[in-house]
Amino acid sequence: MVKIGLLGHGVVGTGVVEVLKNKAEQLVELTGEKIEVKSVLVRHDYDVDYKEKFVYDFDEILNDDEISIVVEAIGGTDPAYRYVKSALEKGKSVVTSNKELVAKHGYELMNIADEKNINFMFEAAVGGAIPVIHGVRNCLKANKVNSIAGILNGTTNYILTKMIDEKQSFDIALKAAQELGYAEADPSADVDGIDTCRKICILADIIYGNHILPEDVHTEGIRNVRIEDVDILKLVGGAVKLLGVAKRTEDDKLFIMTAPHVVFNQGILYAANDVFNAAQLETDNAGLMSFYGRGAGSLPTASAVVNDIVECVCADGTIYPSWADENAKMVADYKTVPYQFYVNVSDDAEKVEEIFPTAEIIHVKGCTAFITEKISENELGEKLSGFTVNSVLRAL
Ligand code: HSE
Repeated sequence: MVKIGLLGHGVVGTGVVEVLKNKAEQLVELTGEKIEVKSVLVRHDYDVDYKEKFVYDFDEILNDDEISIVVEAIGGTDPAYRYVKSALEKGKSVVTSNKELVAKHGYELMNIADEKNINFMFEAAVGGAIPVIHGVRNCLKANKVNSIAGILNGTTNYILTKMIDEKQSFDIALKAAQELGYAEADPSADVDGIDTCRKICILADIIYGNHILPEDVHTEGIRNVRIEDVDILKLVGGAVKLLGVAKRTEDDKLFIMTAPHVVFNQGILYAANDVFNAAQLETDNAGLMSFYGRGAGSLPTASAVVNDIVECVCADGTIYPSWADENAKMVADYKTVPYQFYVNVSDDAEKVEEIFPTAEIIHVKGCTAFITEKISENELGEKLSGFTVNSVLRAL
């Protein structure tokens, strides 16, 4: 029998209880062990039929020698970091869906797990149900991953989809995302790109082997996405998506950022709508590769958590090595790295043709929009100095 201490009883915590229950037999077949939630750390009571498992003091879980795996589903870093660190130091493996915790403290926590020969697992922290962390860790060992671009936040993808397809207002779409259990407790973490930033940092940590701190990564959210641009882009088969992007530059630095991007109607980044997340990787041997699935929600997230629990149960010691210590110096100045841009100006097309002779112009009534060739943001700023600029978006 494997006993679990569950921290938190929100969207993820309740999903974990449910999946462990509805897959109980399958999990015994897989692991040879019955996996049972012994204690649930809560702040207040809930009307459920397993109330007797509720505890109100983390030390009851920490000091319970029967509990070998702690599942952290509280979110945030205080008190989650303290709890997770002390559980690992006590020799309990930890499974978490907490992207803030992993993005900030992953290096330290993985090293503690390594010293103790146990596991710190976090598949659910990126992409919800999608096994993207396992994919890049386990299945691409014969590859160099040159770049990754992902829709990594279900809430903003849901909001953008509703705004684009159903002309819903931002506020109504956000409220629906909250009701569906997709949004963070403070939804500005979704809307302002912070959640996506944490997730692309975790993927970059794994792919590029250095701990990249979110504060070193340029991050923009979706508040300034204009419906006018969305409509114009629709005419030419484009859509606006909030992407986390990471790729090696020619001088072996890391270009990494979170920002709304224009993507065109080929590939998974264009096709992923609603709460779905997607990631597209460019690799040297396997070529282009996509991951796609539900990026948020109770059962999809619990699906990834429970898979990690199964791995902890079956593991004979630490499975995954840590990445190297933080190395902000490898993050390139994002304004110097060549990129394509979508630009919307109030000037006429002749002026655009003169200053941007290679740009692809989208003729629209009342304004001029165009897609540039690859150019750095610094150079773009200089070239646009004489224009009346309505909007600029990165284009993939
Ligand atoms: N708020 C997050 C999202 C939850 O919308 O993707 C899953 O990490």
